[in-house]
Amino acid sequence: MSTDWSIESWKTLTANQQPVYDDRQELNEVLAALRIMPPLVTSWEVDKLKQQIARAQTGDAWVLQGGDCAESFDDCDAESIASKLKVLLQMSLVLVYGSGKPIVRIGRIAGQYAKPRSSSTEERDGQQLPSYRGDLINRAPFTGDHRRANPQLLLRGYERSAVTLNFIRALSYGGFADLHHPENWNLIFAGADKPGPYKQVVDSLGDALRFIETISPQPNPELQRVDFYTSHEALHLDYEQALTRESVRRTGWYNLGTHFPWIGERTRQLTGAHVEMMRGIQNPVGVKIGPAAQTEEVVALIRRLNPDNAPGKVTLIHRLGNERIREALPPIIRAVQASGSPVLWSCDPMHGNTVTAGSGHKTRHFGEVLGELSAAFEVHRDCGSQLGGVHLELTGENVTECVGGSSGLTEDDLTTAYNTHCDPRLNYEQAMEIAFAIAQQIEPRA
Ligand code: PEP
Ligand code: CO
Repeated sequence: MSTDWSIESWKTLTANQQPVYDDRQELNEVLAALRIMPPLVTSWEVDKLKQQIARAQTGDAWVLQGGDCAESFDDCDAESIASKLKVLLQMSLVLVYGSGKPIVRIGRIAGQYAKPRSSSTEERDGQQLPSYRGDLINRAPFTGDHRRANPQLLLRGYERSAVTLNFIRALSYGGFADLHHPENWNLIFAGADKPGPYKQVVDSLGDALRFIETISPQPNPELQRVDFYTSHEALHLDYEQALTRESVRRTGWYNLGTHFPWIGERTRQLTGAHVEMMRGIQNPVGVKIGPAAQTEEVVALIRRLNPDNAPGKVTLIHRLGNERIREALPPIIRAVQASGSPVLWSCDPMHGNTVTAGSGHKTRHFGEVLGELSAAFEVHRDCGSQLGGVHLELTGENVTECVGGSSGLTEDDLTTAYNTHCDPRLNYEQAMEIAFAIAQQIEPRA
């Protein structure tokens, strides 16, 4: 770690997208309370994930990252957590089967509570209030009281992250992830029961699971539990700092509020506070790369975050949009290749493809999402690189937020179940369909 970094060095730099608190003393009391709370994850889990990302960088594993755009305190319930875990586990099963590679599962979960906003205020009927910045900061209803940045919400967010993670750990180490429980792995969605490529894969997967059941009817720890990691946008730097601790048994500082923090498109300035905070920690970190990114800027970011070229440290999550990816991605790939620094390339096919429907709902067209993803595979292949992961906004429920897919959702359906607190998410069927499409495109292991 460089000697000019400290846990507070970010404070000397510009931190974009930070809430303004009217009571600094209350904020400081909350942060002091957070600093002595137990960590949510451990440094050895973080190191293990970093090793797995390093394997994905060399093409020996693949990373599936997904979850809500913004988690909400109200949705912190058993059913919604279990359904998110279930869709990610099922997608990973399809990916393992299709690619023959280990799949690293990372949820946007247990802490994805802070959102960057394009404007710090919102106006309705002539009234101007602070924008909603996620449940960690303020609340969505349009009243002065709800929109006030409330420091107590940092504690509520930490607690909900803890209970969410507790339930995820119980499910993924207990029976839920057990391959002997077919009800959790049953792939029931449109197209899966009609003759065609999905049915073929689903039937073969069913045969494989029955085969496992026959040859290994006794509980087998390898088949009963799965590794599942957490991630969120490391946006609120006071909160991130409070959960970043110096390791007792290992060397260095770890963000123990999540396994995999990422820096968003709006806060990845080279000399900004977010990059400063992330460059000093041992966690693997993600950086979103949007269409405005310059090649030199991307290379400089990698150098700053990972001056020693440590394997597993940096994941570049490009989110360029289906329209622009073919033109924008190749120069970035070439510049990074020339830098010689190892990165994991992940594609976020959501954030460059957001449009407003006639009804005013923010939506995404399934065809555009799939289009960007397929283009990403192709562009990487053409440049002698490999796409090693995907970053999706999805939910396990049957929401109607993105249009298209084999169930044929149209803009008229958007009002039926538009439940997101921020960006539109793929629903269960759309997410499974994406998993099948990815499985067909992942490069086989060399
Ligand atoms: C997000 O992932 O929800 C997000 C805001 O993405 P980006 O930083 O890429 O715009
Ligand atoms: Co989003």
